Amino acid sequence: MARWRCSATPTATSGTCCNMPPDSKHVDQPAGSGNGMLAIERHRHHDLPQARREQLRALAGEAFDRFPIVRETRWATPDWTFLGTDDRGELACFYHLVERVVRMDGQPVAVAGLHNLITTQPYRGRGLASELLAATGQVWFSAMAARYGLLLCAGALVPFYERLGWQRVSAEVRFEQPGGMRTWTAECMLLDPAGDAVDPAVVDLCGLPW
Ligand SMILES: CC(C)(COP(=O)(O)OP(=O)(O)OC[C@H]1O[C@@H](n2cnc3c(N)ncnc32)[C@H](O)[C@@H]1OP(=O)(O)O)[C@@H](O)C(=O)NCCC(=O)NCCS
Repeated sequence: MARWRCSATPTATSGTCCNMPPDSKHVDQPAGSGNGMLAIERHRHHDLPQARREQLRALAGEAFDRFPIVRETRWATPDWTFLGTDDRGELACFYHLVERVVRMDGQPVAVAGLHNLITTQPYRGRGLASELLAATGQVWFSAMAARYGLLLCAGALVPFYERLGWQRVSAEVRFEQPGGMRTWTAECMLLDPAGDAVDPAVVDLCGLPW
């Protein structure tokens, strides 16, 4: 069973973490299923200590910087970071989240943008990334009031995310770059909390991608 520790400005005194507003503090409480290894913390990204931010940036670089599309794209700054640590406090996995109102077929839609989901090498293949997402996904749709989760990924990752309930969409995905608007050429996936089908024709990320 994963355990939650939230770190942000305290404003609420009761409730479960998944139902608390984004700037609520602290809960040590079960969240989701899993294999029992993870303690989960949620931080505002800009509040993370510099050393932690550098560690996460280095891990993302190891994972993604070999891809030209990653190096050549200007990415959004995350709003939130979710950390999964083991029982010795070692970082096992993490992801960043971007809160954004995008436009789907011209309509404004609040999304939780999943960015840089990474499990550190020694912890891979134990279900931890799946556990971290399963344990934290509900907060996107409650406290953060997102309508959908939205991620961009390579085709190879589609089956992994489909197992977690995400849907591949064939929408044209547009985003901003310093040189003007671009179109995403790899995969875009959406997560509907009720599992309903969703299939927009055009998604405008209304800013930098994640
Ligand atoms: C993808 C990743 C986060 C999975 O973490 P994890 O804790 O090992 O994940 P889980 O144990 O919950 O699930 C493992 C599954 O991930 C999928 N997976 C992992 N790496 C993959 C890859 N390079 N291509 C396709 N699928 C992959 C497989 O389906 C795997 O299942 P298997 O072990 O039966 O083959 C991890 O491998 C990682 O950090 N990779 C580098 C960064 C990355 O690609 N992140 C995804 C960004 S969209």
